[in-house]
Amino acid sequence: MLIKKLQDKMDVLAHSDLLRHKWIAQSQTGTQQILLNSSETNPSKQTLFCSNDYLGFASHPDILCALKDGIDRWGGGSGASHLISGHMGPHEALEVKLSELFARLIPDNRCLTFSTGYMANLAVMTVLGDADSEIFSDELNHASLIDGIRLCKGKVNIYKHRDYDALAQLLDKSTADVRLIVTDGIFSMDGDRANVEVLQKLAHKYDAWIVVDDAHGYGVIGGEGLGSLEVEQSINGRMILVGTLSKSAGLSGAFVVAHQTIIDYIFQTARTYIYTTAPLPAISYALLKSLDLMHGDEGRQRRGHLRVLEQHLRCGLSDLVDEYSNAGLSISDSVSPIQAVIVGESQRAIDLSDGLSELGFRVPGIRPPTVPIGTSRIRVTLSADHSINDVDRLMDAFRILFKKTI
Ligand SMILES: Cc1ncc(COP(=O)(O)O)c(C=O)c1O
Repeated sequence: MLIKKLQDKMDVLAHSDLLRHKWIAQSQTGTQQILLNSSETNPSKQTLFCSNDYLGFASHPDILCALKDGIDRWGGGSGASHLISGHMGPHEALEVKLSELFARLIPDNRCLTFSTGYMANLAVMTVLGDADSEIFSDELNHASLIDGIRLCKGKVNIYKHRDYDALAQLLDKSTADVRLIVTDGIFSMDGDRANVEVLQKLAHKYDAWIVVDDAHGYGVIGGEGLGSLEVEQSINGRMILVGTLSKSAGLSGAFVVAHQTIIDYIFQTARTYIYTTAPLPAISYALLKSLDLMHGDEGRQRRGHLRVLEQHLRCGLSDLVDEYSNAGLSISDSVSPIQAVIVGESQRAIDLSDGLSELGFRVPGIRPPTVPIGTSRIRVTLSADHSINDVDRLMDAFRILFKKTI
């Protein structure tokens, strides 16, 4: 019965063009990768426009060297959860470093690290979202925030994407003891940015706190690479920042930086911190190197190149969308290395993605439930390791496919 039931459900997904497939990478993360599509037998070399390795740090020789060095010094697994015996020197050093990095943006802060961003978001939302709280969440927040919110005990309000007037009206009606505004910093499927400065004004006015998931902003935007908070003019207090170390930092893990009492309480009570084995210390050790590079000259230079690529990609795509103006295409309002080409129906996104793959580019089609129904898209992400020529070649491939299919 169970097998039949599950097969029937998958048949429904297949019928709606929503079945997911695996790609098996046969070489390390980079802008060129050997990939095997699970439905094919021969791997092919593809130019990747889909990883979150924004700075190209997943293959940075100094970071890989630090990872090997970390294993030599600190061995393999941590052997236990943080609060038993798994919390080792490099874990602590990473938390201290992140806390110092954000000291000017989040005063009186402390930092707590997690194995993944997903776990960090579950921790923040379940710990802070108790029965006395009320949550105000942007409708396009990441799935891990949404799942954390689903586990909250407080009342939940979803506001229209970046509609801060609607948010203000909801806040105005709230009588809860604690109000939590929850938002992505850079939204993962469109690449647009929350207006954290406006959110902070609302937080002051309505005595609320703001949870910002800056998975796609940290390391990528801001002069020093500190992300969405750094690009705003005035940020002070009322911030609970979540960042990931799996994207621009090139390795894995996540962190939360907030007022020390908030972090102390998360440390005491978060189940995704307490009941899981601490990550390999070598990863934290190598992350220290990654952060040095990210917030130093090299990070600055790589972010500068990303900005040039983003501009070039956006101009190219917007010309293409104008050229095929009757084709029902649009591009997202991006200010980041994430750029969506919205095509509408799922099958169209699959066809375009398959066509790009045949031409040697891995650019995924993103479909519901990851994005709202009717907004399936091709999601392009850039890395500082791409060249202008890579972007031009991608544009040529889009043009070939648009000519053929539209
Ligand atoms: C906005 C956002 N938050 C959190 C996460 C989860 O991070 P991690 O991959 O470290 O679990 C992701 C990952 O894709 C993300 O895009």
